[in-house]
Amino acid sequence: MKGAGHSRVWKLTVTFFAIGSWMGRVGPRPADGELATLTSTRERLQTVHQVLKEVPLIDGHNDLPWNIRNFVHNQLNEFDFDKDLRQISPWSKSAWSQTDLLRLQQGMVGGQFWVAYVPCKSQYLNAVQLTLEQVDLIKRLIDKYSDYMEFASSSREILEAHSRGKIAGLIGVEGGHSLGSSLAVLRTLYQLGVRYLTLTHTCNTPWAKSSSVEEEDNGNGGGLTDFGKVVVREMNRLGMLIDLSHTARVTMRDALEVSKAPLIFSHSSAFSICNSTRNVPDDVLKQLAVNGGLVMVTFFNYFVKCGPDASVTDVAEHIYYIRNLIGVDYIGVGGDFDGINKTPRGLEDVSRYPELFAELLRSGKWNVEDLKKVAGLNLLRVFRQVEKVRDDMQKDGIRPLEILLDSPDTIGNCALDINSVQRLTEV
Ligand SMILES: *[C@@H]1O[C@H](CO)[C@@H](O)[C@H](O)[C@H]1NC(C)=O
Ligand SMILES: [Zn+2]
Repeated sequence: MKGAGHSRVWKLTVTFFAIGSWMGRVGPRPADGELATLTSTRERLQTVHQVLKEVPLIDGHNDLPWNIRNFVHNQLNEFDFDKDLRQISPWSKSAWSQTDLLRLQQGMVGGQFWVAYVPCKSQYLNAVQLTLEQVDLIKRLIDKYSDYMEFASSSREILEAHSRGKIAGLIGVEGGHSLGSSLAVLRTLYQLGVRYLTLTHTCNTPWAKSSSVEEEDNGNGGGLTDFGKVVVREMNRLGMLIDLSHTARVTMRDALEVSKAPLIFSHSSAFSICNSTRNVPDDVLKQLAVNGGLVMVTFFNYFVKCGPDASVTDVAEHIYYIRNLIGVDYIGVGGDFDGINKTPRGLEDVSRYPELFAELLRSGKWNVEDLKKVAGLNLLRVFRQVEKVRDDMQKDGIRPLEILLDSPDTIGNCALDINSVQRLTEV
């Protein structure tokens, strides 16, 4: 009957619009119809190559420096970064090795945060010295391979290196235990060129809680102590990026509340897709967008699929999810290569980044501008804002903070408690 027919058409139309708007939530339509019609993988990869020529692809986290310590004890004369490491032992035999210069070039990497990581076991022992040695290693590495890489410590220097066809090499320190609870060490690391600090690795520090020792999630507070909040403020004043990967949720929330500058997750994905505590829950993602920060989606299979198997499509799912939730302006990539031993199919090593961007294009819902943001423009925006907060605080005459940890950071170690040393009076 006519009436029923009408209502069926109406229902179909409503359904169609509902599906259309649901799909639309994945992201805006391509700016021009052209991209949607790019059907072949080759064409998509060509588009990606053009994008990554124009904008540096900046990865948030690579653990090669730690492998160089493990494998060759930081002896760079025994390390041929410009060779195919898949052919050279012990790299060829290690499931943890996914990085060399040739593959970085194939992967069109334009900027890399090299990680000065030292294990939590060194906390209260020689963590600070070991960290300095890793910083020294990264600088020597960049220097030795200056035909390929250029040291960068600002947003401007990343772009300059990229314009010269070099990979911008940056330094991040992974874990607050590397500070020995000293703001002086933090400032010195900044002077050496360190541009992010991950507040914790897998151990609590005396001032910040780690996700690895998270008890129960009891809302806000209790993640950062007063001294932890001072560390965040001092990082704002210095212009150092604050990295929340590995931290407990309570730490994430406290840092988001205290920081004047945008925060990053250098290598974390979406908790709603894989419920590892290394991933970021929705409420924190929403706060991160308000904060103007960045989550650099990571590739470890156990954080992508919560299991040993994953593919590049699964990594893209995290990116789609985060985009739906908070938008494309807060997403980057932090592969964690050389820090992982299970990589997704299609993202096996640093040569494969273009595959991920081609995968995003394949969805038909991503345009060139979106790809540029995720590749590097978002990180550059965050970095510039961090630099601006630094400059504003300097203009306001804010001096280095001189607050000390209430109790000295000497628990169970062999360090001298300097406060116990009295100056001898002359006799
Ligand atoms: C993740 O989900 C699994 C299965 O539902 C559950 O057993 C596990 O406790 C969850 N883990 C976290 C950290 O929420
Ligand atoms: Zn890590």
